[in-house]
Amino acid sequence: MVAHRAAPILVASNRGPVSYTLGENGTLTAKRGGGGLVSGLSAIGPDAGAVWVCAAMSEGDREAVRRGEGDAQTRMLGIEPDVFAAAYNSIANSVLWFVHHLLFQTHLEPLFDEDFRQDWASYETYNAAFADALAEEAAEGATVLVQDYHLSLAPAMLRERRPDLRIGHFSHTPWAPPDYYRLLPDDIGAQLLTGILGADRAAFLTHRWAEAFAACCADVLGADVGHDAAGEVTVTHEGRTTRIGVHGLGADADFLRERSHRDDVEERLAALRSEIGPGRRTIVRVDRTELSKNIVRGFLAYRQLLTEHPEWRGRVVHIAFAYPSRHDLAVYREYTAEVQRVADEINADFGTADWQPLLLHVKDDFARSLAAYRLADVALVNPIRDGMNLVAKEIPVVSDDGVVLVLSREAGAFEELGDDSLVVNPYDLRSTARALHDALTMPTDERAERTKRLAAAATALPPEQWFLAQLSELG
Ligand code: G6P
Repeated sequence: MVAHRAAPILVASNRGPVSYTLGENGTLTAKRGGGGLVSGLSAIGPDAGAVWVCAAMSEGDREAVRRGEGDAQTRMLGIEPDVFAAAYNSIANSVLWFVHHLLFQTHLEPLFDEDFRQDWASYETYNAAFADALAEEAAEGATVLVQDYHLSLAPAMLRERRPDLRIGHFSHTPWAPPDYYRLLPDDIGAQLLTGILGADRAAFLTHRWAEAFAACCADVLGADVGHDAAGEVTVTHEGRTTRIGVHGLGADADFLRERSHRDDVEERLAALRSEIGPGRRTIVRVDRTELSKNIVRGFLAYRQLLTEHPEWRGRVVHIAFAYPSRHDLAVYREYTAEVQRVADEINADFGTADWQPLLLHVKDDFARSLAAYRLADVALVNPIRDGMNLVAKEIPVVSDDGVVLVLSREAGAFEELGDDSLVVNPYDLRSTARALHDALTMPTDERAERTKRLAAAATALPPEQWFLAQLSELG
C-alpha cells in the first residue's frame, strides 16, 4: 500500500521522466528524459510536492517498480504487460495516433473487430489504473494535468473518483476533423470525447487542433460550443462545461544555447563537418522514424532537387537523423526499412567517389542533433501532420549562421512560424523540391532576418511558462 502523499499538483503521462534498463547481472540503470514537461515541472521546484504518475513501459521499468526504485516525485504504475501492450501499442499508437495524424488508409486499413474491442477494454483498464493512482495521491482540491491521447478516458474517471480536483487535459497531437474522426466506432468516438470533457479545461498546441476537438464534440456528441467571458471556447455536454485552451509549447532557448556549446557538441560538429566535406551546403532533418514525419517523401523531394537542379550535385549534403521509434509495431519497422532503402538508392544513383549526397544516421544522439542544428543551411520539417514539431522551433534558436526553414503547413508550428518559413504541402514533391532550391539560394541577409524572427516566435512560450500557464488557468 503506497502512502497517501497528498500532492497539491500532479502530472500524468504514459512516458515518465525516467526509464530503467535491466542489465544481464540484474542491475538497473536509470535514464532521465528531457522534454517540455520535465522542464515545466522543474519550474515549480522539487519542494512543491508535485507527483508525476507514469506507466512502466519496459521490463526494466516493471522491475524498478517491484524493487521500489525511484523518488518521491515519481509514481510509476506496474500495469500488467498484456494490458499495457494492448493500451499503448494497439489502441493509443495504432488507432488514436493514426486517427489524429490521418494515417489510416496510407499506412493501415482501419478495422474494428472483436480483437479491437478486447484491446479497448485494456485501454479502459490502463486509464482506470491512472485514475486510481491520481485519486490516491492528490490532496483535497489539487490540480491534475493529464497528458495526451494515451489518457483520454482518465479525466472523466478521475472526476468520478474525486470531484474536488481541478483537472486539465493536454493533447500533444493534432486533433482529427469530424469527418475523419467518425471513422472510429460511434461508441468509442463518443467515449473518448466525454473522457476528455471530464476535465475542467482541455488544452491543445494550436487553435486548429482546439477547434477540431470542439467541432467533434458538436458533431459526435451534439454538445454546445460557445465562449466564456474571457473569450475561451467552451464545450457544454450533459450539464457540464469544459473550457478549451491553447498553449503553443515553445523551445527552451536558455537550455538549448548552453547545451549546444558544450564539448561533446563541438566534437560532433567537427566530425560532421569532415563528413560533409568543405564548402558544401547542408539540408538537415531530425525526427523519430515516425510515419507522420514524412521522411520518405522528404528524401524523394531531395532526389527531385538533384534531378532538376544538377548544379547542386556535389555541392549539397542532406543530413538526416531518423531515430528508432515504436519498434513493437510492424508498420514502424517496415517504415524504418523503407527510409533506409530510399536513402541507399539516392546515394547509389547520385553519389560519386568524393560526395555522398545523403547522410542517414539512425542511432539516437542528442549532442549530434544539436551539432546538425548549428550548421544547417536549410532545415526540412515536412510532416504529414504534427501536433507542434519542436525541431522546427529549436533549429533557428541554435543556428550558427542562420537557417532557412522549409515547413509543412500541416505542422502545428506553422501557426507561429509560417510567415518566416518556406511553406510546403507535405504530399507535393515538386513544391517541396522547389522550396529546397529557393532555400539554398536565399540571400544571406534575408536568411538572417528570417532566422531572427523565427527564433523569437519559437521561444515565445518556453516550457516553464507553458506549464505554469496551464496551472494558473486551472486556478
Ligand atoms: C509524441 C507524443 C508523446 C510521446 C512521444 C514519443 O510526441 O505526443 O506522448 O511520448 O510522441 O512517443 P513514444 O511512443 O515513444 O512515447
